[in-house]
Amino acid sequence: MKLQGTAAIVTGANRGFGRHVAQQLHDRGVQVYAAARNPDSVDLNGVTPLQLDVTDPASIAAAAAAIDGVSILVNNAGVATGATLLEGDVDSIRHEFETNFFGTLAVTRAFAPQLAEHDESYVLNVLSAFSWFNVPAVGGYSASKAAQWSLTDGLRQELAGQGTRVAGLHVGLMDTDLTASIHAPKEDPSNIARLAVNGIEADAFEILADERSNAIRAGLAGGVATLYPNLV
Ligand SMILES: NC(=O)c1ccc[n+]([C@@H]2O[C@H](COP(=O)([O-])OP(=O)(O)OC[C@H]3O[C@@H](n4cnc5c(N)ncnc54)[C@H](OP(=O)(O)O)[C@@H]3O)[C@@H](O)[C@H]2O)c1
Repeated sequence: MKLQGTAAIVTGANRGFGRHVAQQLHDRGVQVYAAARNPDSVDLNGVTPLQLDVTDPASIAAAAAAIDGVSILVNNAGVATGATLLEGDVDSIRHEFETNFFGTLAVTRAFAPQLAEHDESYVLNVLSAFSWFNVPAVGGYSASKAAQWSLTDGLRQELAGQGTRVAGLHVGLMDTDLTASIHAPKEDPSNIARLAVNGIEADAFEILADERSNAIRAGLAGGVATLYPNLV
């Protein structure tokens, strides 16, 4: 879709990947509502800070009522607690689902009517390579990202009738606070943000932004034997 002159909302735009996406959209002529739990923490020039906690229904409703004209929604806000499936704190896993899955669902529901007002509109859900591959060290997070992937597929079908295209962005590791404790090669989030916004511009349904995502996606066809060879 044509970006110049449109309006977008990006959740979790105060830091990390969301901040880079907000910057990219702004640089390409989009009016950006930079949503954050604490709008005072938004430090980008030229964007409009907006209070939004994706786990708080009142906050979501207030944000949707406060602005109009949005034709691009980027569901970026997310958490990873490091909870494992068997030993991890169950409340931490619930928190991951509340934010990553239910938060994405609630924000999309709230903004769907606004998106419908445009001939072209777009929802980008920031997923993960771990939507397709469960990493035991972040088992709860991986499961929440898998649920968010299915959510993306469902919303894509439900919103098609109103002309809203729904896409998923898959990426392995980016260098943000979320991965600070992980010592492995990481992508530069500004590069991934550029690919993500290219994807919006190209009306992509699925954006695979790095090698790891491409490899895991290719491995899906091979099933457990390909994805988890150490078990076979
Ligand atoms: N980093 C990676 O390797 C990687 C890889 C694949 C996918 N992702 C995904 O990329 C997205 C952004 O992650 P990141 O790496 O940028 O992490 P990050 O640096 O930790 O930033 C997370 C962002 O989400 C916001 N957030 C968390 N809970 C929220 C809530 N309830 N309501 C509103 N905002 C909330 C945070 O706001 P506060 O400042 O208020 O906490 C912050 O802006 C997530 O969906 C994550 O799953 C990350």
